Order: sequence, then C-alpha cells, then structure tokens
Amino acid sequence: TTAELGTATTGDAVDLYDPDSYAAGPPHATFAALRRAAPIHWQPVAAGPAAPGYWAVLGYAAVEAVLCAPELFSSERGGVVIDDLPADRLAQMRNMLLAMDPPRHRDYRRPLAHRFTHRAIALLEDRVRAATRAIMSEAAERGAAAGTVEFVGKVAGQLPTRVVGELMGLPPADWDYVHGLAQLLNRGQDDDYGATATGATAGESAAPAAPEPAAPAPTPSEPTPSEPTAPEPVPPTVEMALYAAAFAARRRGEPPREDLTTLLLAGDFGGRTMSDLDYGSFFVQLVTAGNDTTQTMLSAGLSALLDHPDQLAALRTDPALIPGAVEEILRWANPLHYFRRTALADTELAGRQIRAGDRLATYFTAANRDESVFDDPDSFDIRRSPNRHLSFGKGEHFCLGAHLARLEGRVFFEELLTAFRDIERAGAAVRVRSNLNNAFKSLPVRLTPA
Ligand code: HEM
Repeated sequence: TTAELGTATTGDAVDLYDPDSYAAGPPHATFAALRRAAPIHWQPVAAGPAAPGYWAVLGYAAVEAVLCAPELFSSERGGVVIDDLPADRLAQMRNMLLAMDPPRHRDYRRPLAHRFTHRAIALLEDRVRAATRAIMSEAAERGAAAGTVEFVGKVAGQLPTRVVGELMGLPPADWDYVHGLAQLLNRGQDDDYGATATGATAGESAAPAAPEPAAPAPTPSEPTPSEPTAPEPVPPTVEMALYAAAFAARRRGEPPREDLTTLLLAGDFGGRTMSDLDYGSFFVQLVTAGNDTTQTMLSAGLSALLDHPDQLAALRTDPALIPGAVEEILRWANPLHYFRRTALADTELAGRQIRAGDRLATYFTAANRDESVFDDPDSFDIRRSPNRHLSFGKGEHFCLGAHLARLEGRVFFEELLTAFRDIERAGAAVRVRSNLNNAFKSLPVRLTPA
C-alpha cells in the first residue's frame, strides 16, 4: 500500500489545512508520525477564516473524547469547516442537526431517529435495489455507447439522490434536477469540480455530442418560487431549499403518505413545527450529508477494490463478505477527513490545554489508522473484524444516515458485481481538491456486462 501513503513525506510536517497536502491522497505517513508523537497537535493557519489555527485531533481515543462531549465541544459554534464555507451555505448550515447543540439538537433528532433505525431502513431495501439495478443498466448502456463510463458522477453519484428522493417521496421526474444541484454542492475548495464531475470527462470523451455544461440547467417538474428571470444566479443551496420548500407547500395540501416528508411536516420538534423553509433547510442537509459521502464511499470503494484484485475476486465468490468490505472501505477511505467543534470552556485534552473558543478538527483519517485500535492499520482487509472505525462519527451527532449508507453500500456492490463480470480502470482517477472531502471527482472505468 505504498502508493496509498500519498505524499509519503516520512513524517515531515505537512500543513493539514492546505488542500494541496491531499493532492496525491491523504498524507497518511505524516498523520501517523504526528499521531505517534502526540494525539493532538496545533495546526497554525496564517490567514483567512480559520486563522490563527486549530487543534488537529488525531488519536482514536482523543477523537472519541471530543465527539462524546457535546456540552464542552460545540457543533453550533462552528469551526474550521463552517467558517470556510461561502456565506450562503453557512446560513443554511445553521439550521441543521449537524450544527446544533444539546438540548435543541435532541429535540430535533429524536422525532427523526426512528425513521433511520436499522429496522426502518431495512424496509427500503427493495426500493434501493430497484434504483441500483436501473443505474447499472444505464451504466451498461453508457458503456456500450461510449466505451468508458465516468464512475463517480454517472454511476456512484446516481444512487444517493435517488434514495433521498424515495425517502422524501419526491416525484421521480425531479431526481435528475436534484442530482444536478447536489453535484454543484460537492466541489469543496475545488474550483474545477463542476467541469469534471458533471460535465463530459476524459472517460467519455468518445461521445461525439457537445460537452455537457458544467452547471446543469436543472428543471424541476413544477416551478419553484424563485424568479425564473432573476438577474442574479441563485446559489445551489438556496435553489435546492426553495425547491424543497415549494414541494413541502404542495404536500401540505395532499393526504399523508408513508414517507419522511409527511413525518417532517407533521412532526413536533420540542414544541415547534417545521415551516416550509425549515423543511427546505432540512432537505438540503440530507442531500449535503448523504450525497457526496455516499458517492465517495461507492467510488473510493471501487477504486480500493481495483487496487486489491484478490479481495475483489473474493467478493465475487462470496457476496456474504460485502458488508464487511463496506466497513473496511469506510475505515480505509473515509469520505470525510474530519468534523469540527469549538471548545466552550477551558479544558484539558490529551495533556494539552485547550482554551474556550479554540477550534478542533477530529481527523477520522488519522483515528481510523490508530495502531492501538486496529491491527496492521494501513492494510486494506475486507475481512477485518472488529472494525470500529469512526467514519460515521460517534456520540450525539453519530451519522443519522449510517444504516442507510450501509444498505446502499451493500446493495450497490452486490448489484455492481452481478451486472458486470469485469471492471477495469480506463484512465487515471482524479481527486477533489479539498482538505475535507477525501473524494474522487473522476474515476473512468470500462465495464464488461455479465
Ligand atoms: C452526520 C458521515 C451518509 C445524514 C454525520 C457525521 C458523519 C457522517 C461523520 C457526524 C458529524 C459530526 O459529528 O458533526 C457520513 C458518511 C456517509 C454518510 C461517511 C456515507 C458513507 C449519510 C446519509 C444520510 C446522512 C446517506 C441521510 C440520508 C446525516 C445527518 C447527520 C449526519 C442528518 C447529522 C446528525 C446529527 O448531527 O445529529 N454523517 N454520513 N449521512 N449524517 Fe451522515
């Protein structure tokens, strides 16, 4: 796995805040060297919203300690990630579970939790499978027409939006529209993202048609409240929230259904109900939390399997290994490098003095390879057990969609390996430029149908 060590600088200090430090993959050697020296380190940041810097929390136990003390380490106060977002996205985030502290957080999370239990999510399996099969047939057609297929946007990225669409009861005619907007949210610090991820790519350059526009011109099934002739372009988060608010308004006039929209619109959140715009904001949250992460799990997962052909072959012979493989993909190629918190009071963490107002970033990328928890942590092993990775976080904010993501991962790889007897790389994979998203924006492949 030497290649996976990325910028293998053998422990020379790397600026963890600089997106370019992740250009060749996460700097695992640096993370490991730093983590062995101490579980937390101060990462200075010279200028900009994250200045003067933040605590990089690298040890497994230290990451757990921060995530499990929400009264001390706040999500609401923001920190590294949030401060770095454009203002429109920042405003959206404030109303999200992810950016709430107790007790408000509990009030909002409790009414939703039963819809996301293992049991409740298992009921969605048939629909997730039907959506996955449709995606695989489309991929086969695409492959037959163009030779190669852009796996990130056209295959992996298709599933999460369709699943959120099912969950919320969106008209299927709107899925493409929501997908187009969701892709625009994935760009991280990568100004070039849209051009590669949603437009024509190297992989599909064989197609003679004009390249697809970087920003798709999405059209929902019914008009949104935004002015179609507005001179200012509407940011994608705002457009998505407005679309969802209009959908909520429509649904209020209709009989209740067995979907999350009915639950949200009728729900009691600590004495409050959701307005259409609250619903819009929640919708954006589900799409931002669930889209890019799941797309990354599926595409980074395939990439890891292609690099470990013996393990890919083992999955084909014994599909019962797939759930374990999904966990190992999550550990080894965690979709998000970190989440952030802000200290609310002076406190001590791993022997260091943290001051009120200090920011902390909990690096899953480092914690997931902590040798005090994982044997041989740098090797990719689909049979690893136990596998207590932190890629879904821990504690109060533990990923609400974890069971859903796991279901999507299992069904996706089951269907992918059934649909295609051979999968090969058809060009170099390209990573998103980001200090947060551990993601590919392009993974061209050649798919041979079974
Ligand atoms: C929270 C990762 C998929 C919805 C989180 C957190 C992580 C995470 C690390 C905790 C953030 C924190 O501690 O501040 C992932 C990964 C996914 C994934 C790696 C896929 C592989 C999904 C999906 C959904 C979802 C599919 C929903 C459709 C949420 C929500 C929260 C959350 C609503 C906020 C929970 C709260 O603050 O109480 N996710 N997620 N996630 N995730 Fe996921």
